[in-house]
Amino acid sequence: MDLEEALSELKVIVETVQKQEEWRGRSTLNLIASENKMSPLARALLPSDFNHRYAEGEPYDREYQGGGLIDLIEDLCIKLASRVFNANFVDVRPISGALANLAVFFALTKPGDVLLSLSIPAGGHISCGEVGAAGCRGLKVYSIPFNHEDMNIDLEALASVVEKAKPNLITLGASLILFPHPVKEIRKIAEPYGTLIHYDAAHVLGLVAGGVFQDPLKEGADVVSSSTHKTFPGPQGGMLLANDETLFRKVKKAVFPGLVSNHHLARLPSLAVTLLEMLLYGKEYATQIVRNAKTLAKALHDYGINVLGAHRGFTESHQVVFEASKLGGGGEAARRLEEADIIVNRNLLPWDAVGKVHNPSGVRIGTQEVTRMGMKEREMETIAELMWRLLIKREEPERIKEEVHKLLADFNTVRYCIDGQDFVKGVLKAFFER
Ligand SMILES: Cc1ncc(COP(=O)(O)O)c(C=O)c1O
Repeated sequence: MDLEEALSELKVIVETVQKQEEWRGRSTLNLIASENKMSPLARALLPSDFNHRYAEGEPYDREYQGGGLIDLIEDLCIKLASRVFNANFVDVRPISGALANLAVFFALTKPGDVLLSLSIPAGGHISCGEVGAAGCRGLKVYSIPFNHEDMNIDLEALASVVEKAKPNLITLGASLILFPHPVKEIRKIAEPYGTLIHYDAAHVLGLVAGGVFQDPLKEGADVVSSSTHKTFPGPQGGMLLANDETLFRKVKKAVFPGLVSNHHLARLPSLAVTLLEMLLYGKEYATQIVRNAKTLAKALHDYGINVLGAHRGFTESHQVVFEASKLGGGGEAARRLEEADIIVNRNLLPWDAVGKVHNPSGVRIGTQEVTRMGMKEREMETIAELMWRLLIKREEPERIKEEVHKLLADFNTVRYCIDGQDFVKGVLKAFFER
């Protein structure tokens, strides 16, 4: 590539980024379960001078001078997160969820130790498998048995795996998660073996913040890791939570000086704003996310689409998952939906072979972003109808796309967030009125 080619490619990229709102944010119905939108205030704070700065270490104990404001903001993030998640200890320095998981593995295990985690088809994230971060730590990974019918962990089978494998750590939480995992019960099974419990809340952190999903720390997890940008609608980043000081000291050491040096400071002001928003509006937001997911799931089911978890009310989270073999597979269904500007992802289902990744059986949908944009039950029913007309009635994608754009036209403001003007009022309310 010569310089001229590079410049012309860069021009295209710049133009695309400038039109970004139109690209995904406005002109498509985004149902990717791992994405979300920050509030205008959180977003406005991202391009700050913090992008150019360094702050190794902890607030008020840095390797570099000149970081006073960074100390204040990071400390505020820690205090707010501690309040939102009822956690004694918080670390906001991991720059992603996968890195937060790696920090847990480095802190709480040694090479050769045994980890039990969910397989990828059963919903486990790649970072918790031997091909990912867990493997980087040299862990031997065994799968947590999964009940396909109930779409949850098979406790009886797990008890016998724990007895045989005597794991050092069990990782709960998942990328495909319809129902809360039985943390309390698993803690009981694991306790006699001294096994620690780690809960990866990357997907459900916003629901935990809103108090509508399980509270993993309260139910017995020793440590919680997460991303900060899925159901929790903050800037892209990671977070760690725990209640035990000795354990958390190890986790913090794994983060710094272990895995992170400068921790991408520009996201911190946006994180503080999002935490405050979740203190103020988290319950209302998370409640509507789950209501929307349940409504969408039921409507798709009523249209004859094979939605998982039917006998358990379809879902307790932001996710709706359907089996798409009769629609040409998950990959084919997702591609057809994209032709009408409905964006979802194909997904392995618990009974799929890992190698089926390009056309797995499932489609995963998340309601957190459309809820953030103000959609409610009525719109979920419309979305289900559009999907049915596209996938089952085989109407032309162009025709459905027009209706998608009509639907989107009424939903272009981010909700459940602080008005910039009311920021100070919001801070005061969050701290003194709750
Ligand atoms: C359960 C789970 N853990 C961890 C991650 C990784 O998070 P990140 O993309 O922030 O590294 C994901 C990503 O989707 C996930 O689903």
